[in-house]
Amino acid sequence: MPEWLKDAVFYEIYPQSFYDSNNDGIGDLQGIIDKLDYIKDLGCNALWINPCFDSPFLDGGYDVRDYKKVAPRYGTNETLVNLFEEAHKRGIKVLLDLVPGHTSDQHPWFLESKKAEHNMYSDRYVWTTHAFEGIGGHPYISGMSERAGAYMLNFFASQPALNYGWLNRTEHWQSAVDSEEAIATREAIKDVMRFWMDLGCDGYRVDMADSLVKNDDENKSATAKIWRNVREMMDRDYPECALVSEWSNPCQAINGGGFHMDFYLDHHYNGYNTLLRDYETEGGDHSFFLKEGHGDIMRFLDDYLPKYEATKNNGYIAMFTCNHDTPRLARTLDERELKLAYAFILTMPGVPFVYYGDEIGMKYLDVKTKEGGYQRTGSRTPMQWDETKNKGFSQADEIYLPVDKEGPSVKTQMEDPDSLYSAVKEIIALKHRYADLLADVSFKVIYAEKGKYPFVYQRGNMILAVNPSENETETVNPLFSDTQIIFHIGEAEIGNDKLKMHPQSFVALK
Ligand code: NOJ
Repeated sequence: MPEWLKDAVFYEIYPQSFYDSNNDGIGDLQGIIDKLDYIKDLGCNALWINPCFDSPFLDGGYDVRDYKKVAPRYGTNETLVNLFEEAHKRGIKVLLDLVPGHTSDQHPWFLESKKAEHNMYSDRYVWTTHAFEGIGGHPYISGMSERAGAYMLNFFASQPALNYGWLNRTEHWQSAVDSEEAIATREAIKDVMRFWMDLGCDGYRVDMADSLVKNDDENKSATAKIWRNVREMMDRDYPECALVSEWSNPCQAINGGGFHMDFYLDHHYNGYNTLLRDYETEGGDHSFFLKEGHGDIMRFLDDYLPKYEATKNNGYIAMFTCNHDTPRLARTLDERELKLAYAFILTMPGVPFVYYGDEIGMKYLDVKTKEGGYQRTGSRTPMQWDETKNKGFSQADEIYLPVDKEGPSVKTQMEDPDSLYSAVKEIIALKHRYADLLADVSFKVIYAEKGKYPFVYQRGNMILAVNPSENETETVNPLFSDTQIIFHIGEAEIGNDKLKMHPQSFVALK
């Protein structure tokens, strides 16, 4: 397990929208290099960069055409290597985005695979034998190639599924998980991983990590086995590199697959939603962090705690403020609510991720879809740097996506000591200052009651309490005696064993 993860605070960058260094209207890698000092100053010491590889961009770059080539619009391989070096000079690690489950349908492997003549890539993807035979309940495409057969899709129509085999095989065209072709796919992806790690990258965020083996069992044990094999390579050859999975099942990903971290995503309607985006449940938004105070912390803990307990010795749960697939929290939470939510996210065990722009409260915009973004496009708009043209994102007249002209900017937020940005920076600094807040330090619930506020928890020898509601709360616990408030948002008072929290407050006690 790489040591640096213990104190890591990640910053996720959607490269198209971060900073346009050459004024062609789209963000680029040099733009990220130019802003490394900003990221360091915020306190983040690791990056996750969304796919920056050659692609037809029918899914924002998650349709990779060449895993080993930087997309020309972002720069060259040299620029990326330079980015690794410049980041490292500042103590910042860089994770790239690995898409192992599928490629673009324009990837050379697929162009070969769809040929009628048998060749070394014929079985790199999942194909049936006959053009009139589908893939069971899975999405597929037929009638688009000379090769007879239908090919399986892993996501959009442009993303054919790579072939890692099937665990429970029911058809003769399904490869076994230990077949030559399934192993060849795994090795090809490991080769891609090695390519960038040899050039200085510090690991990967792994896209749809659970999607490799088809008809896997309920524990995804065959897919997990592939990742354990990858982890062996990492431990042996790249012990300082890290892997974080898009799996959202830490028991399977961390315990089973050997991932160092697994995202606590929102797309399985788990505890994350109940905290921050509970607007799809009946009866209105019951998010815990809304000031109305209709939330229920137990809905989060019932989901989170068993996962935390089961994985805490093997890896880290990664909480995020939001990501490129999910609506920004500022859609429903106001600045004060966001401060409290981020304070919580950044002080929980595991490794936190901040999505670019969330630190200044960028909004989810109602914009037209771009490059396969659809509803997600509203969370992918250009970073708002200052009050100049295009909010300082680019000097071009036409830019990748519309910028939120009325929205906050880094400049205005930096100038205001009470801004969301200032709070995020202070909380990150707190996290770095106290060893209690390292990723692997103990976590214990001190006070949590169904439908009640506040939520009080302990990390090492630090007590943290958050009261997002508009009501004052009072909690009694002998642990509060002899502690002092070392950080606060809003007001709170301690007297002997009582903690009184004013409306919408957060405190750290030691
Ligand atoms: C998850 C990625 O985060 C998303 O943006 C992408 O569209 C799908 N996987 C398919 O790769």
